Amino acid sequence: MKNSFDTLASSWDNDPGRIPQIDKVAEIIERELKFSTDDSILDYGCGTGLLGFRLLKNAGHATFCDVSKGMLEQVTLKSEEYGKAKVSILNADFSEKAPEGVSFDKIFTMKVLHHVKDVPQLLKNFNKKLKPGGWLCSIDLEKEDGSYHHHEGVPHKGFERTEFEDLLINAGFTPAHYSNEIVIEKEREGVVKKFRLFVSLAKK
Ligand SMILES: C[S@@+](CC[C@H](N)C(=O)[O-])C[C@H]1O[C@@H](n2cnc3c(N)ncnc32)[C@H](O)[C@@H]1O
Repeated sequence: MKNSFDTLASSWDNDPGRIPQIDKVAEIIERELKFSTDDSILDYGCGTGLLGFRLLKNAGHATFCDVSKGMLEQVTLKSEEYGKAKVSILNADFSEKAPEGVSFDKIFTMKVLHHVKDVPQLLKNFNKKLKPGGWLCSIDLEKEDGSYHHHEGVPHKGFERTEFEDLLINAGFTPAHYSNEIVIEKEREGVVKKFRLFVSLAKK
């Protein structure tokens, strides 16, 4: 069955704000986190893989995971130039079950968590799938009034820092960095509203 992201997949990258936002996020990550060319990274809820492909140049291998087959088709098209050794594609929902036989040095998840009902379970499964000393990088909306997704219901209207860091601690992580310098502007009923994205880093 198609989900709402399947129908958005082929035009996802055409939004003019998309790439500059990824660039800002990647700059913060590259400033705060050391990579090794041996790193195995996971872009979870990857969409068309914009963040994962951008970070793959610092790492050895990237797994792109999403529940939307339409999004993963876009990743497959892009993956041609990286070669099979560098890219894996996974259609899985870690909030239901952590897949067997995979582990990662770093997990990135951008604008996904507010779509996930059981965030505590997802974070616990991320922890299970990280190698010792691995990092989880979560990029998501700070608490908002619900107008970000004004046409559709989502399980979470963003997250407050303390609430989110408590979830990380309960899942076995040590929060290590939090910044919220990225602002997204959206027009709502003729008014430009500002929403903040946070970048959180937590160590296993
Ligand atoms: C707002 S998009 C973000 C895509 C990409 N991370 C980006 O920043 O361009 C949210 C993505 O999360 C995926 N998603 C939603 N719930 C998910 C879940 N439980 N597990 C994995 N992916 C999920 C959607 O299919 C969609 O591709």
